[in-house]
Amino acid sequence: MSPQTSNDPLVHVIDHPLVQHKLTLMRQKDASTNSFRTLLNELAMLMAYEVTRDMPMQDVEIETPLETMTARVIDGKKLVLVSILRAGTGILDGMLTVVPGARVGHIGLYRDPKTLKAVEYYFKMPKDMQERDVVVVDPMLATGNSAVAAIDRVKATKPKSIKFVCLLTCPEGIATLRKAHPDVAIYTAAIDRQLNDHGYILPGLGDAGDRIFGTQ
Ligand code: URA
Repeated sequence: MSPQTSNDPLVHVIDHPLVQHKLTLMRQKDASTNSFRTLLNELAMLMAYEVTRDMPMQDVEIETPLETMTARVIDGKKLVLVSILRAGTGILDGMLTVVPGARVGHIGLYRDPKTLKAVEYYFKMPKDMQERDVVVVDPMLATGNSAVAAIDRVKATKPKSIKFVCLLTCPEGIATLRKAHPDVAIYTAAIDRQLNDHGYILPGLGDAGDRIFGTQ
């Protein structure tokens, strides 16, 4: 089965075979904590490759062992990866492997189990946010409440741009994020069928935080 796509030009479903293969392994309930974490790391590296595809570049003069040449390097201030705690850490690590110079911001949010609303307990961003592009990461875009709350706070720092990266989402999560932040591009490995009454994605992969940290 090929992954569900979206007509929204700002929703990017990364359907690369390596991404889809690793996601399928992660979804399986028997995957160990170790293999879930390793696969998430690998997936995050592959997703970083897609999400940074349009990073600005500049020409620089360099010396190879044979001659001088004009070559390209990434331009501008370092990218900021913003991790929504705690599950965002799983994606952050993989992305930092590929973009080691990135700055890192953290937003601590927990989901009130009754209202499913996001409650903030921590917020720390790098300085000079106005000169930086931001990628907010969280494995699951489910109700969308945490993503909206996180992006509200990041937007208040006035960065140059914001993208959102998740492993899995569903139509409800996309709709909520779209309504609140129509300008924010979403990168995901899959759009699943729906949310259940507890705010879990179906068929999904369960509780991403518990599966990354082995806290189930
Ligand atoms: N958070 C998770 O970890 N899993 C879901 O399915 C939804 C939200």
